[in-house]
Amino acid sequence: MNYMDKFSLNDKVAIVTGGAGILGVHFCKGLAEAGANVIVADINLEKAEILAEEINRDYRGSAKAIFCDVTSEQSVVTMVSKTVEYFGRIDILHNNAAGKSSDLELFFAPFEDYELSQWNEIMNMNLDGMFLVAKHVGKIMKAQVEGGSIIQTASIYGILGPDNRIYKESHYLGRQINTPAIYSVSKGGVVALTRYLATYWAPDGIRVNTITPGGVESGQNAEFINNYSNRIPLQRMARAEEMVGALIYLASDASSYVTGHNLIVDGGLNAW
Ligand SMILES: NC(=O)c1ccc[n+]([C@@H]2O[C@H](COP(=O)([O-])OP(=O)(O)OC[C@H]3O[C@@H](n4cnc5c(N)ncnc54)[C@H](O)[C@@H]3O)[C@@H](O)[C@H]2O)c1
Repeated sequence: MNYMDKFSLNDKVAIVTGGAGILGVHFCKGLAEAGANVIVADINLEKAEILAEEINRDYRGSAKAIFCDVTSEQSVVTMVSKTVEYFGRIDILHNNAAGKSSDLELFFAPFEDYELSQWNEIMNMNLDGMFLVAKHVGKIMKAQVEGGSIIQTASIYGILGPDNRIYKESHYLGRQINTPAIYSVSKGGVVALTRYLATYWAPDGIRVNTITPGGVESGQNAEFINNYSNRIPLQRMARAEEMVGALIYLASDASSYVTGHNLIVDGGLNAW
């Protein structure tokens, strides 16, 4: 038995939604380094194309950028059929895209004033989008003898309430921030969708798992980083690349007996 071979993704085909984002870039590079051919599926095609070029130059696996707006079923269908056209199959789906709204005043509004339209917009992007991509990729995986592996990105705020004290003096994205309820609720829904699909598709050889990242350092101000780090057993925020090991494990045969799991990468926050 060669145990490390189980982590290889040689010649596997992987889709990463939101692949051009802060975490997505590392997820795509990690999959390509493990040998996979990666579809960088993102609403920001320009960034996705730059990343695909870099992967094709520097990594073992190849990459292609495909435009995808996960909130549009037509766009998802087109992205999935282009992937099959390019590579003939889909072994791995990383359902990872999520976002804030373009209007940060509305996104960070207090719960008592939260607009229903904003709530629906974020739910549409963070959870309905994962439903649409899983639906169309799952159809392809179900028809394959080998099935596939689906990984969905949630967040610690999908499993824990926020400690609002850490946002005192916080500054990020040019303003004071918080964790809106809709972010928590949509991410809690991601964990539930994973569990549902894990049992639903198990007979078809499709495994479905969640990665739950803790807060990643990405330009927050010193007060926020300090407040956040004080609550973490490992005493610091995560680095984006620290999420990649969990993805490769869940995507590969190393986790062949793991489905419906939530792999929490949070520096120990949920262990207190
Ligand atoms: N960064 C963190 O601290 C953190 C912590 C916990 C969970 N997460 C989760 O990890 C995942 C990745 O986060 P990130 O920090 O890389 O976010 P990010 O905002 O840097 O990247 C998100 C990517 O998704 C793309 N995107 C946005 N809307 C889209 C749409 N409708 N269709 C397709 N693509 C779209 C964006 O263009 C961007 O490239 C998200 O699900 C996020 O909720 C992040």
